[in-house]
Amino acid sequence: MDIQFDFSGRTAVVFGGTTGINLAVAEAFAARGARVAVASRKQANVDAAVKQLGAHGGPVRGFVADVRDMESVAAVFDGVRSQWGAVDVLVSGAAGNFLAEAHDLSSNGFKVVVDIDLNGTFHVMRAGLEHLAPGASVINVTAPQAWIPVRYQAHVCAAKAGVDQLTRVLALEWGGRGIRVNAIAPGPIAGTEGLSRLSPGDDPNGDRSVKSVPLGRFGTREEVADLAMFLSSSAACYISGAVIPCDGGGSMESVRAIEEAGRFLASAGR
Ligand code: COA
Ligand code: NAP
Repeated sequence: MDIQFDFSGRTAVVFGGTTGINLAVAEAFAARGARVAVASRKQANVDAAVKQLGAHGGPVRGFVADVRDMESVAAVFDGVRSQWGAVDVLVSGAAGNFLAEAHDLSSNGFKVVVDIDLNGTFHVMRAGLEHLAPGASVINVTAPQAWIPVRYQAHVCAAKAGVDQLTRVLALEWGGRGIRVNAIAPGPIAGTEGLSRLSPGDDPNGDRSVKSVPLGRFGTREEVADLAMFLSSSAACYISGAVIPCDGGGSMESVRAIEEAGRFLASAGR
């Protein structure tokens, strides 16, 4: 990369930061000197992430927390604050996804994704505000489904659209405190849980999904992490309320590959 970021002395907290894209985001900050805390539901994921992040030599903390539970989210901030002080970078990236036509979704199936993605993001924002340092960068992880209607993704489209609007409203309300609130919308990112859930039956190189990307390839977790670092750097100090795709241009059209994957599932009787 031809840009050098330095987050020495800063504190970053990443919800859902124990695997996949969010772990890469946490690692990018850890590798550039930040104190980093990650939180998710599963102790094994938390332990593995803390070990991986700790290899960069800086202070790392891991918390078991479910973003659906406001109290467990608040406990993460209390734990971070008591040791490290105020939070400079806050990332809300926990999410759930599966392919299902709306008529096959139970009330709870729709609710579980809205609870994790949208209500969870609200909990992270609401509990986090009092712990944010002046000038803090807040980043919500959304998806192109927020603005592109996609079959088999009613629950995710609804939840992520809510995340986008929440991002914009908080940018309005928190701007006066010097806090910037933005969102990152990854496209298909190689080697992730999200991509594997949305591309069942794809060939090993993901040929079908790749065809929907103008740049002709999947993204990498590190490319999403680069955007998170940019948004949290002084280079982005006048950017707030933005929802920025990191998707090789794929979300300008439609997420056709996901729809094809849904048809594949339906034809396979799943
Ligand atoms: N199709 C239709 N409904 C589904 C489903 C599917 N593939 N998978 C789960 N559901 C429904 C369940 O049937 C249940 O509804 P019910 O109580 O009416 O039966 C509801 O969703 C909740 O499922 P449950 O397994 O109890 O939820 P959970 O809290 O244990 O897990 C999920 C949450 C379902 C989102 C799970 O996939 C998860 O933990 N995901 C995190 C990882 C992830 O999705 N990563 C990709 C991010 S892009
Ligand atoms: P992932 O590896 O499954 O990451 C999701 C993380 O959230 C995990 O660490 C998971 O850990 C945690 N999590 C899930 N439910 C939680 C809950 N209730 N409370 C707290 N933590 C919870 O998936 P990913 O593919 O990297 O996706 C990361 C983000 O990018 C998501 O916001 C997703 O919507 C977005 N995105 C991904 C893609 C893609 O191509 N992968 C595309 C567009 C957008 P535990 O299981 O331990 O809780």
